[in-house]
Amino acid sequence: MIKKAIIPAAGFGTRMLPYTKAVPKEMITLVDRPAIDYAIDEAVSAGIEEIILVTSKSKNLIEDYYDRYFELENALEKSGKKDALEEIVGLAGKCRIVSVRQKEQLGLGHAVYCAADLVGDEPFAVILPDDLFLATKPVLAQLKDAYEKNNGPVLAINEVPIEDTSKYGVVDIERDLGGSLFKLKSMVEKPKKNPPSNFAIVGRYILTRDILDELYKTSRGALGEIQLTDAINAVAKRKEVYGLAYEGRRFDCGSKIGYLEAVVNFTMQREDLRQDFIKIIEKIKK
Ligand code: UTP
Repeated sequence: MIKKAIIPAAGFGTRMLPYTKAVPKEMITLVDRPAIDYAIDEAVSAGIEEIILVTSKSKNLIEDYYDRYFELENALEKSGKKDALEEIVGLAGKCRIVSVRQKEQLGLGHAVYCAADLVGDEPFAVILPDDLFLATKPVLAQLKDAYEKNNGPVLAINEVPIEDTSKYGVVDIERDLGGSLFKLKSMVEKPKKNPPSNFAIVGRYILTRDILDELYKTSRGALGEIQLTDAINAVAKRKEVYGLAYEGRRFDCGSKIGYLEAVVNFTMQREDLRQDFIKIIEKIKK
């Protein structure tokens, strides 16, 4: 049912400066692939067929990464590097990727709204590519299952230390529906005090058209001043919106320490590198 995913990738990435002055943070390397490639794999394995990238100036590298590169393909073919050739050709065919520009960085809600015309009326996923997960079942697929059972927007939520709630959108839970699914009463973006819970909204969503309409309504007056959380909150007042405390571990690759944690954990997943990597860590510990 959910075939399209919006990936907002137009932010400045100021927490990762100076790297992000010239290179999109979505293209930061985790082992041998850019971070966004893990997010796109998660989408594809959840059955997403079309990715709508929201980009900005200096983000062309993302589009280049998923394009064909015939000179390189010819060179790999001539030198008999078949595996590498298959891998780079495979990138271009992973799924349909279209892109739209966010011309001014007016926030996540505005970035999502930039993709509205390409989404149409169907429910869709939103994937923040700097949040990466290690999970038995891809987190987006867990959300999709919850959407299909309950037929309402579903947000990935995660317990965080109460002192960290001011960095996130935080949900107010109305009811525990069992199976890690909650009906949400409301949500508030980056509460300075009295957070309604310690469940934070993290970078995976299944949303519906009415949320885009809500972004549109508000953005006509004060373009960009609406947060995605505010639009979902407005919709939650008139229909059921759910939070799923997904199974899996999250890495915030938009922060330096979260990125380093991801590098270590994603390297440990690699059969070809794990043993040598453990030896290096043991040496450092000594
Ligand atoms: P962040 O809150 O991480 O902002 O955005 P940022 O600019 O990328 O990074 P920092 O905080 O300055 O280090 C969350 C997601 O929303 C996208 C980002 O690209 C990221 O995927 N975003 C944010 C946009 O696409 N446009 C915006 O105007 C803001």
